[in-house]
Formats: sequence, structure tokens, C-alpha cells
Amino acid sequence: MTVLALETSCDETGVAILRGGNGESDSHLLASEVASQIAAHEKYGGVVPEIASRNHLVYAPRLLDRVTSSANIGLAEVDAFAATSGPGLASSLMIGASIAKGLAIGFGKPYAAINHLEGHLLSPLFGYEDGNKQIRPSLSLIVSGGHTMLVRVNGLGDYELLGRTVDDAAGEAFDKVAKMLGLGYPGGPEIEKHARGGDPNRFDLPRSMLDSQNFSFSGLKTAVRYLLPKLKGDFLADLSASFQQAIIDVLVRKTITAAQKYRVNLITVSGGVSCNQELRKQLDEACGRGGFEFKNAEPWLCTDNAAMIAFAASLRLQGGFRSKVTEEIDPNLALT
Ligand code: KG4
Ligand code: ZN
Repeated sequence: MTVLALETSCDETGVAILRGGNGESDSHLLASEVASQIAAHEKYGGVVPEIASRNHLVYAPRLLDRVTSSANIGLAEVDAFAATSGPGLASSLMIGASIAKGLAIGFGKPYAAINHLEGHLLSPLFGYEDGNKQIRPSLSLIVSGGHTMLVRVNGLGDYELLGRTVDDAAGEAFDKVAKMLGLGYPGGPEIEKHARGGDPNRFDLPRSMLDSQNFSFSGLKTAVRYLLPKLKGDFLADLSASFQQAIIDVLVRKTITAAQKYRVNLITVSGGVSCNQELRKQLDEACGRGGFEFKNAEPWLCTDNAAMIAFAASLRLQGGFRSKVTEEIDPNLALT
């Protein structure tokens, strides 16, 4: 089965074509392109929805052209079309979903509306032989700019939300603190870069709600805000490292505690924040100590992209899943 997917939930335009993954062959990515809009939003310190949707309209047709020619495949040869249908920005979601629905109608092929969070959640399994078989009881941490979630995975489409942020998402905290520090957008990679060589123990920053399965990062952000005016001299590396470590401590501790509680032996992590090398390393080490298998996606699959949507769609479609082309996008779509 060949699936073409579009991802336009926020500010990245993604189009990908994926083949296989149906037990006969591994899922094989034929082409994946992402057009970043970072430059367009950077000066505002965050994503401007109107600008994002206008750019999707410009980039999506270009990327469609590019993936079909680099995969050397005609649109008529695609077996199904998929798009992210939520959660995300309404005006952005509409672009990708409308294009995928139009193609499905035009070519008389199935359409799959995919939850962006399911795309992230399944991405660590991408590239393994027969993705469907890889989906087994596990504990999944999703950490992105919009979400921080602990999910118990029982099987494909069978997810249980164990915890979520009550205020800022982990990526949002990285972005906001980076802005306070005068660093660029998105803030996560900037903070990670400045944290290298910094002392993660120099500043004692709060680790909130450690006894809960939910997360809270706004106290940490506020602590940095109050600390900043008191600091003199060279503090950027140490503060970046201390802030990053405070986030990592919370994410690692809650993930391991939940995995022990629910007696799963596989832990996965996904979403933009999981590009963070220090988080990956510390989660991997904690999993090793706790006797858990650990899977994370390649960094290019952690931030928003259409390959993860194509992968989720292909697994779903093989199980008989079909969406109606009349199905609307849902900016608040829940995972469970
Ligand atoms: O998954 P994603 O691309 O978009 C959403 O679905 O939100 O995640 C973007 C988020 C941003 O907040 C960005 O700062 C964060 O992921 N991020 C990172 C790193 N790379 C991206 N956070 C920490 N360390 C990184 N290396
Ligand atoms: Zn995302």
C-alpha cells in the first residue's frame, strides 16, 4: 500500500509518501519533505496562525510536486491519502486536510484523518520491521510544543491518557524561557546548545508536581523570570543547563514511575522536545537502570513531519480504518 500524507497542524508544512509496512515488507519511506516557516514566525516569538495558513497554501502544492517527482510516482498510483485532522491550528489543519480530501475524491481512493498526537506517539516504531507487530503494551511520553502527555498504549488506537500538563507544555516552557534569555525561536534547540558545558546544578530550580502523573512547567518558567534580574556576569550556559535539567528530571521521573506502576516493559518518547540529546540520554540510562526497553525516533522524525502521519495512516488503513471525506478537522482533537 502506498500512502501520501500531509501534515499542516501548526507551522511546518509536511508531505510524505510511504510504501509497505503491511507484514509483507517494512514500511519504506519513498519521500518526505518539510518546509519550515521558522523564519516567518521568529520575529513574533511564536506562531502567527494567519501567516502559517497562508504559507501552507503556498508550500503544500510545491512539496506535493517535489515528493511525487523524487519518489517517481504519479498521484494516480497512490493507494490512499491522509492528513492530520487535529489537534492544531484550525486555519492550518484545513489546508492539509482539504488537499488530502480533494485528492482522495479526485482519484477515488480512501482518506484517513490522522490524529497528530498518534503520529508522534507511533513515530518511535517507524523503521522497525512490520510496524503493526511493534505496537505492544508500552508507556509513551509525548513532549512537544503544544503537548506533554504520558500515555499507556495497549494496542493500535487503544490509548489511555495517564497524565498531561496543567499549564505549559515542555516545549512551550523551552520556547518561553529562551525568549526571556534573548535566544531565538524555537527555544528548545537554542537552550540545548547553550546548556552544553553549563553547570546543571548551579541554579536550584523547582521540579513541580512530582507526586502526580500530571505535569506543570509554569512555576519553573516563573522561577527563571524572578531569578534573571538578580544575575550578573556569565550565567547563560549554567542557567540553560539548570533549566534543561529541571525539565528532564521531571520527565524522566514521571515516565519511569508510570512504567513501573503499569508494568509495561517498553518506554517510547516522541515530539519535538525528544530531539533533545540530554533528555534522550538520561531517559535511555534510566530505562537501562529500570530494565525497560527504550525506543525513540530519529531526530528528524521528532519534530513535525508528514512521514509520521503517513506511518500512522498506513498502520490504521491496513486495519480497515477509513475516514469520511465529510469529516471535519478538530483543533481540539483528543488522543483518547
Ligand atoms: O513536535 P513539534 O515539532 O511541534 C508540536 O507539535 O508542538 O515540537 C516543537 C517543540 C518546540 O517547542 C521546540 O522548542 C521543541 O519542540 N524542541 C526542543 C528541541 N528541539 C525542538 N526542545 C528541547 N530541545 C530540543 N533540542
Ligand atoms: Zn507535533
